[in-house]
Amino acid sequence: MEYRAYDAERDREAVHRIWYETGWLEPGKAEHEEAMDIFLGAGRALVADVGGEAECLAHTAPGSLRYLDEDLPFSCVTAVTTSRVARKQGLAKRLTAAAVAADAAEGALVSGLGMFEQGYYDMLGFGTGGYENWFSFDPARLTVKAKCRVPRRLAAADWAAVHRARLSRARGHGGCNLTPPEMTRAEMLAATNGFGLGYADGPGGELSHLMWCSAAKKEEGPYRINWLVYQTGEQFLELMALLRSLGDQVRLVRMREPQGIQLQDLIERPFQIHTLTEKSKFEHKVDAVAYWQMRVLDVPGCLARTRLAGEEIRFNLKLADPIAEHLSEGSAWRGVAGDYVVTLGPTSDAVRGSDKSLSTLAASVGAFTRMWLGARPATGLAVTDDLAGPPGLLEALDATLRLPEPKPDWEF
Ligand SMILES: CC(C)(COP(=O)(O)OP(=O)(O)OC[C@H]1O[C@@H](n2cnc3c(N)ncnc32)[C@H](O)[C@@H]1OP(=O)(O)O)[C@@H](O)C(=O)NCCC(=O)NCCS
Repeated sequence: MEYRAYDAERDREAVHRIWYETGWLEPGKAEHEEAMDIFLGAGRALVADVGGEAECLAHTAPGSLRYLDEDLPFSCVTAVTTSRVARKQGLAKRLTAAAVAADAAEGALVSGLGMFEQGYYDMLGFGTGGYENWFSFDPARLTVKAKCRVPRRLAAADWAAVHRARLSRARGHGGCNLTPPEMTRAEMLAATNGFGLGYADGPGGELSHLMWCSAAKKEEGPYRINWLVYQTGEQFLELMALLRSLGDQVRLVRMREPQGIQLQDLIERPFQIHTLTEKSKFEHKVDAVAYWQMRVLDVPGCLARTRLAGEEIRFNLKLADPIAEHLSEGSAWRGVAGDYVVTLGPTSDAVRGSDKSLSTLAASVGAFTRMWLGARPATGLAVTDDLAGPPGLLEALDATLRLPEPKPDWEF
């Protein structure tokens, strides 16, 4: 497969056609084409040609991933699409592998993405993250006691300030930022009936906390909170109070449960309202879905930034990485397969090689990433994923890798 960098002048029409064919663009929504153009201008866009025209597109954007207290260079696969005429030729797989390899060669330590289905990106070494809880609730049922002040209206034109606020929001373990401001700009432009409300309590009047919403039905909802940005618990509660203030009109809001918060605590009689609304268009419910995936791009690089509170353990790691099969001969980065001696603890590292005196963990890079991130413990992954080792080692890994649940808190 020959691939090349996306060239807006040459490929714009062809990539629009791909997105019309996949349903990611809809006729009559010019602002969505503009959003796509802005989005492609940020980060790395690669195309593969068939018959001289771009028929497959992959895009990645740079960012950072919070691992406990460390910020790791991160690359996000933000779009992978193949047109109707070029499916099942391996274009998407190889183009995505090429984009990930290019980002790894430039120093990204971890790659992440939102999957369309389980299984596909496993072929490139990605492992599935934990469940995200999506709450659908009537904002009038929020029991939050805090009061909200009059907020500021936010629109797509405020993208630069909104992006700054997103980057400085509170982030926990697994929290991601995509750094190009154009990512926020494009998302805001592409939102259906998008609107934002927020507060500017930051130094010099910077936005401190806000919500950005889209509304399938503007009148009674549902509204979707595309993102919630805040730096403190008080700010979060003010945003919840603000949401409640819409409750005389809006019957349903859908939002992702923020890290560390049990949203159900703030909802009045959640079981009663679920029973009353079951199967209605305003159904109160929680959907749990594991839809994001990540993979380590550099094992020593990630472990050098891994500082764990648990007891130190050392072991041999035999890592398999399927991405190399999908990379061209010339690719400088070829995945992370191989043998390592790993130390995990307050100071961690990984060194190529093996030590006969240590026990061995054999894993795919996807399963190893899930364990390292804390998406699932080693003993559980040994049951359902490609990860194996002596029981004593698995239990020691469970004890040392006691991490908060990773939550990217960024839709990708
Ligand atoms: C998803 C998409 C990009 C794949 O494009 P493609 O160029 O046809 O993909 P590839 O040729 O690299 O891979 C297709 C192969 O993966 C397999 N595959 C697809 N989904 C899979 C899954 N969940 N698990 C395992 N294998 C899967 C297919 O069966 C096919 O195998 P085959 O060629 O042996 O029949 C394309 O269908 C598309 O554009 N879909 C709409 C947009 C979209 O959802 N994009 C992904 C965003 S995350």
